[in-house]
Amino acid sequence: MELHQVEFSTERSRSYKLALNQFPECWKEDTLMMYDFLSPQCGESILEIGAGSGFFSFDISTSIGPEGRLFVVDPSPDQLKPIYERADDNITIMQRPAEDISLSEGVQLDAIWSRGAFHHVKSKEAVLNNLAQFAKPGARLVICDIFSGTKLSDYFDEHVAISCTTGHEVSFLSKPYAKSLCKLTGWSEPKFTDLALQWHFERKEDIGVFLSLLHSNKPEYSHKHSLDDAERLLGIRRTPTGWHSIGQ
Ligand SMILES: C[S@@+](CC[C@H](N)C(=O)[O-])C[C@H]1O[C@@H](n2cnc3c(N)ncnc32)[C@H](O)[C@@H]1O
Repeated sequence: MELHQVEFSTERSRSYKLALNQFPECWKEDTLMMYDFLSPQCGESILEIGAGSGFFSFDISTSIGPEGRLFVVDPSPDQLKPIYERADDNITIMQRPAEDISLSEGVQLDAIWSRGAFHHVKSKEAVLNNLAQFAKPGARLVICDIFSGTKLSDYFDEHVAISCTTGHEVSFLSKPYAKSLCKLTGWSEPKFTDLALQWHFERKEDIGVFLSLLHSNKPEYSHKHSLDDAERLLGIRRTPTGWHSIGQ
């Protein structure tokens, strides 16, 4: 068995959850985006790759109701803790990387959802190949992630890779790469939507606090450092009710 290093453990995970607890309103657009693109329906079976601390899992679980089933996959026990604690009856927790997903015989998925996690998956082709076996005909595969060659991939490659306590050695999708992956693994031609989701904050400096917590900055990288790089690489604007920066 291949040894899989759990990147989001202890400090990285503690800090990630702190960011979301401190700024619970900032990802409102991301939640709307999940409803728009995944559109979870009552009674559906859905698999979530890299569920983390359950930011989307609880909304999905509520939407599919008691007749539905949500399989959440994530290798980090620290990240998954809030999902274990809430213990929704219709959620099955699979504490493992996407590379090790196995579902019981007969399980057929209506949809697969992943946000901000697929760049961490090392064997993307093997994972998509495996998942195609469990997908109902016409099943929806919705991957919301950072694409290479974007402002956001620049922010991760230039800033997060050096400031994050665990580093950030990942591989981002490109449109041609996603197309060939789908073709090779039995999925139909992907449709792409470029989203510039905005993350909302009351005060400009909150953006630096949020990003430095979300990406678990090393002590030598301050909130201001994250704010300045976000301003330079992503853009920050004033809104009638506060400030926003572009998310993923
Ligand atoms: C940036 S977080 C996103 C969490 C959640 N989807 C969200 O939007 O808040 C990335 C997550 O991917 C998980 N992850 C890392 N490697 C993975 C892998 N090989 N398979 C599945 N999940 C993985 C991490 O443990 C982490 O929880």
